[in-house]
Amino acid sequence: MTKNILISCDHAGFYLKEQIVEYLLKQSHKIIDLGTKNSSSVDYPDYCDILVDKMKNNSNFIGILLCGTGIGMSIAANRHPHIRAALCSDQDLAKLSRQHNDANVLVIGGRTTSLNSAKKIIDIFLSTEFEKGRHTKRLKKIS
Ligand code: RB5
Repeated sequence: MTKNILISCDHAGFYLKEQIVEYLLKQSHKIIDLGTKNSSSVDYPDYCDILVDKMKNNSNFIGILLCGTGIGMSIAANRHPHIRAALCSDQDLAKLSRQHNDANVLVIGGRTTSLNSAKKIIDIFLSTEFEKGRHTKRLKKIS
């Protein structure tokens, strides 16, 4: 199913981001690349904010954020009440972040994740539904 995806990264996530954009376009997803556009050093909170702002009042979008480890982007993204960002280093985490946490932003470490692994993580993140039930009550507690 076609998804509306926003993607953003800092310099440390740039190379993996470029390859991920190419991969997602081949799958006919609608993807908006919010930068960064090259490997010059930038500050990850700035590129996090660009994506997070676009997701405000628009639950149609799924976000993908990359920095070197994914940790900085996760910390920054989760400061925003409408964001549930999950740093995923494997497919199990990606699946559970959707099933249990209804994660709306996938965070990937650009320096810690191979392209092959990133593709698998993204595939499962995009194709897994939130399980609702007991998990809805828990998410309400967070909000
Ligand atoms: C940039 O050098 C690096 O600190 C950043 O990409 C990220 O890993 C921070 O968490």
